[in-house]
Amino acid sequence: MSFIRQAAALTLWAAGCAGTGIMTEAKTIVKKQTFGQTADGASVDLYVLSNKNAMEAAIMNYGGIVVRLKTPDRNGKLEDIVLGMENLDGYLKGHPYFGCIVGRYGNRIAKGRFVLNGVEYKLAKNNGENHLHGGIRGFDKAVWTARETGAAGVEMSYLSKDGEEGYPGNLAVKVTYTLTDDNELRIDYSATTDKDTVVNLTNHSYFNLAGQGEGDILAHELMLNADRFTPVDSGLIPTGELRSVKGTPLDFTKPTAIGARIGQDDEQLKLGGGYDHNFVLNSGGGRLALAARVHEPRTGRVMEVWTTEPGVQLYTGNFLDGTIRGKGGKVYQRRYGFCLETQHFPDSPNQPEFPTTVLKPGGRYESTTIFKFAAK
Ligand code: GLA
Repeated sequence: MSFIRQAAALTLWAAGCAGTGIMTEAKTIVKKQTFGQTADGASVDLYVLSNKNAMEAAIMNYGGIVVRLKTPDRNGKLEDIVLGMENLDGYLKGHPYFGCIVGRYGNRIAKGRFVLNGVEYKLAKNNGENHLHGGIRGFDKAVWTARETGAAGVEMSYLSKDGEEGYPGNLAVKVTYTLTDDNELRIDYSATTDKDTVVNLTNHSYFNLAGQGEGDILAHELMLNADRFTPVDSGLIPTGELRSVKGTPLDFTKPTAIGARIGQDDEQLKLGGGYDHNFVLNSGGGRLALAARVHEPRTGRVMEVWTTEPGVQLYTGNFLDGTIRGKGGKVYQRRYGFCLETQHFPDSPNQPEFPTTVLKPGGRYESTTIFKFAAK
C-alpha cells in the first residue's frame, strides 16, 4: 500500500523533472582541463561539468572515470561524495574500479568462459577462477575519445576490437555523461557490434554521501526497489535462483541503514563479506524506473538511482582495507564507500534463464542510469 503511494509520488516528481529538463542545457558549463598522460603518451583530460546550483561532476577520458562529484548538503555545503585517487598516476597504478565505466561485461562470468552460437570464448580469470569486470584491461583502463556534447555533457567513445580480452566482435561503445540543473548526473550508454557478442556496461562509482573519506557508509539509509535478489556461491557467481528478500537482511524494500544487519549471521552476507549482491529490480528493466534511494542522515544528502537496467549490484566496499590513500590524503577503510552498479545480472552469458546480454549486428545496446541528488 505504502509502496503504491510512494510510486505515484515518484512518478509525479519524475514528470516534473522531465518538464524542466530542457531548461538545463544552456546553464551547465563544461570546462576541459589537462589531467596527465598515460605510460603510452596518450593525453588524458578532465571534463568538469557544473550546473546552476554549483554542483560539479568531473570526468576523465581514462576509463571514463568520475573523478569528482560535488553535491550540496542540507545547508547548501558542497562536498565531494565519490572516492578516487589524487591524480592520474594514482589511477594508473591501480585501484578497485573507482568511478569507472566497466565493460565489456560488468561483474562476473563464471570460470572465465561462455558459449555463444556453439563457440566457446575464453576470458581472463582475474578473480579467482572467474572473470571480473571485463578482464585484465577492461574499459576502465581504456583511453576513450572524448567530445563535449551540445547538451551540457561529455561523450566518450571507444572501439573495443574483435578478440579484445577474449570477447568476439568489434564493439563500438559510446557513453555520455550529462549534468542537469535538476542535480542529475545522467549516463547514457550505447553500443553496436559486427559479430554476435555479450555486453553489460555500468559505472562503478563509490559513494559516501557524508563526503569522501568521511567514515564508513553504515549509517546511510537505503531503499532498493527490489523484492528479489540473485543469491551467490562462494565465488560470488549467481546460483541461478531469484530469491525473495523477505525475512532476509537483503530486504531493503523499506529504507534501512546499510549497517543495521550487515553483521548478521547470514550465509549470503558471509559469502559477500557484506553486501555484494545483484538485486532484481521490480521494474523488470527496459524502462527508466527508480531503483534505489539513499539518505545520509548527518548531512541530509539524498541520492536516487534511476535506471533502464533490470538489476543493480549493491557493493558495500567490503574489500577496501585502509591500504589506499585517496583524494585529499584520505585513507579508505573497509566500507568507506558503497556502489550501486546498474546492470544485467552477473554471469548471464552462462545463465539462459536470466535476461539476455547478447548483442547482434544490426541491433543496438542502450542503457540509461540517472543519479539524482537532493538534500533534506
Ligand atoms: C564489484 C564486485 C565486487 C568487487 C568490486 C570491485 O562490485 O561485485 O565483488 O569486485 O566490484 O572491488
